[in-house]
Amino acid sequence: MQYDVVIIGSGPGGYVAAIRAAQLGLKTALVEKYKSLGGTCLNVGCIPSKALLDSSEHYHNAEKNFEQHGIILKSIVADLARMVERKNEVVSQTVSGIEFLMKKNKIDVLHGIGSFKDPHNIVVTDDEGKTTELSTKKTIIATGSKPITPAAFNYDKKRVITSTEALQISKLPKKMVVIGGGVIGLELGSVFARLGTEVVVVEYLERIIAGMDVDCSRELTKSLKKLGMTFHLSHMVTKVQSSKTNVAIEVQKRDSDETFELKADYCLVAIGRRPFTDGLDLDKAGVKLDEKGRVIVDESCLTSHADIYAIGDVIRGAMLAHKAEEEGILVVEQIAGQKPHINYNLIPGVVYTWPEVASVGYTEDTLKEKGVEYKVGKFPYKALGRARASMDIDGMVKILADKKTDEVLGVHIVGARAADMISEAVVAMEFRASAEDIARMSHAHPTYTEAIKEAALMATENRALHI
Ligand code: FAD
Ligand code: NAI
Repeated sequence: MQYDVVIIGSGPGGYVAAIRAAQLGLKTALVEKYKSLGGTCLNVGCIPSKALLDSSEHYHNAEKNFEQHGIILKSIVADLARMVERKNEVVSQTVSGIEFLMKKNKIDVLHGIGSFKDPHNIVVTDDEGKTTELSTKKTIIATGSKPITPAAFNYDKKRVITSTEALQISKLPKKMVVIGGGVIGLELGSVFARLGTEVVVVEYLERIIAGMDVDCSRELTKSLKKLGMTFHLSHMVTKVQSSKTNVAIEVQKRDSDETFELKADYCLVAIGRRPFTDGLDLDKAGVKLDEKGRVIVDESCLTSHADIYAIGDVIRGAMLAHKAEEEGILVVEQIAGQKPHINYNLIPGVVYTWPEVASVGYTEDTLKEKGVEYKVGKFPYKALGRARASMDIDGMVKILADKKTDEVLGVHIVGARAADMISEAVVAMEFRASAEDIARMSHAHPTYTEAIKEAALMATENRALHI
């Protein structure tokens, strides 16, 4: 079969690229090694983790907050098995939605491992070893990533687990040690902490979510401590050993010989993900990898071969579903002769803890490093009527603006609904708004978004209205 585009990998990068390619009239095939479409994001990432985050948050509110709202429950039980079942239902509905979209757009879907025979021929090998050969003008590698599991951690998928297994635990553990205070560790750590598990996080750096603005780390640490999570910051795990019923974790203080041992029912390894290129036979296509195993691409996502592109987690940059999607669209529109672009600085990052954390643009530390002169406007959630009405008073909005021009350079939010609110900042920054522009726009009352307006007023003229 001759195709205009063959896409290897059906995650958010791959399947979105396939839809856009079909919309542009390109004959398109999508190759996926698993039976289920959607990649990490739909099957073992974004969607299932958010399903469990929502269920556990409902439980937590029922247990801790309903009484203050005047809702008295006689008994309340966290049925983790049912939560996991519901999560699986959400995943399967979402995955079948992708199958529908592939059919609707007349995209050929092939299940099997895709590998290069040469730069213009892809061999797909299914579970039974049957092979199909696809001839193509262009190929997009969208094979995603896998969790990093160092040998010393003895990853056994039973007691020493990654996010993939954590999403399937159906009996509530008493204690869980999480290695890594990054996005996965904190999101999944909060799921279990809300349900009653003792969660201990060991983080190598001096703060959690270290890639985000320092105020976000500070605010989130306070909230997660209130939830009962404990943190060993500036500590690293050097060894993990499991038995049938529990797991021992050796922890070392950074820059010191001091060590101690933690014991738990589970150890969740969440220290980052590695690009996944196994089985692709990239050497047959002349596609090169960098020292971290990522497919090397230029600013157009073109690899070292002129007809092969790569997108998403398998290349440089943030490992985010929406970043993969944008790259999929960028590549296909280029193939169709258009001239799209991505502003990587304006790809938002969100952590779906409660309060949520959401960020776009530069952090304060980056502006300092770059020597940019800036102003800061902050506004606390507790000063919002909306936040007091819902009792979600933890958090703040922080706006960084250029000292001379007032252009918004970064927006960092910790608080209820931050994940949805960050879009206002993305739109403003895409249109190169000043802090005053935001401050002069009407924000509905009472909403959490008023905190953005107030932070903008602080950044512009230090004149918030409600503090
Ligand atoms: P993937 O989604 O990893 O898809 C790659 C696909 O390629 C897989 O289906 C794989 O089976 C297939 N494949 C690999 N090799 C071959 C081959 N040789 N032949 C055929 N098929 C192959 N990001 C967010 O933006 N928001 C979130 O809330 C979020 N939550 C997350 C929660 C968790 C627990 C995890 C683990 C990740 C989360 N992410 C989130 C990250 C997000 O899932 C990834 O950034 C995203 O899935 C990357 O998309 P992708 O298309 O590059 O690759
Ligand atoms: P991460 O990179 O976010 O965090 C890993 C943390 O582990 C780092 O803070 C690092 O300092 C620490 N670490 C590394 N080795 C250690 C050791 N030996 N001992 C103690 N700490 C150690 O990686 P994570 O959380 O695994 O997530 C992987 C990717 O998945 C992220 O890049 C993220 O973009 C994506 N993701 C996105 C989500 C979202 O957008 N909401 C949700 C979940 C994942």
